[in-house]
Amino acid sequence: MTPRLLLRKPMRRDARQFHAWASDPEVARYVFWDPHKTLSQTRSVLRAMLSQNRLRGLSSFAIVRQRDLRMIGTIGLVWRDWQNNSAEAGFSLAKDCWGQGLMTEALTAFLRLMFEEYGINRIEAQHDVRNRASGKVMEKVGMRLEGVLRSRLYYKGEQADVALYAALRDEWLDAQQGKDAPR
Ligand SMILES: CC(C)(COP(=O)(O)OP(=O)(O)OC[C@H]1O[C@@H](n2cnc3c(N)ncnc32)[C@H](O)[C@@H]1OP(=O)(O)O)[C@@H](O)C(=O)NCCC(=O)NCCS
Repeated sequence: MTPRLLLRKPMRRDARQFHAWASDPEVARYVFWDPHKTLSQTRSVLRAMLSQNRLRGLSSFAIVRQRDLRMIGTIGLVWRDWQNNSAEAGFSLAKDCWGQGLMTEALTAFLRLMFEEYGINRIEAQHDVRNRASGKVMEKVGMRLEGVLRSRLYYKGEQADVALYAALRDEWLDAQQGKDAPR
């Protein structure tokens, strides 16, 4: 729970609201998946998320707006490396919800959960350098830029440079405590 959002497990009945934004080419521009073409495609993506959550523990969350309970996005672990206690976070939001600080709110809550409850030590996030809003979110939540990986990815028909961000549990939780402390 954040001031405006609820992070909860995705459910089958999210399919229509999920499809409404996951079918938007602008939302899918800088992510690995293509815009969903049909509602049945969204249903099968949702089924895959649910079964991954069942098999590997809850790691994909629906982002729900509290005021109308609309499912406006997803946030989750792209991978988790148990041996090295690290993971990568990925996130997407409906376009009409951009620019209101919502993903900053969601990612802050998600990092806290992953560090405090899941005990992960290092969480990475990466974005295509052209996806500036995504980098801004990573910065605003206190992740640190570790470098730009040139031509790291090939997706959507072209090579792309990627900015790699990471947060470390102790460092991040300490910094958050500093933010929460009365001034
Ligand atoms: C990236 C994304 C998650 C951002 O979510 P959001 O809720 O709009 O993010 P926030 O409002 O918390 O913060 C966005 C910041 O980027 C800034 N921003 C937006 N567009 C920008 C641009 N083109 N260049 C630079 N900064 C930009 C905003 O001004 C804001 O910063 P501010 O608070 O200092 O003004 C959202 O745009 C999205 O879902 N995009 C499609 C999916 C995606 O790309 N996911 C990430 C894959 S790595």
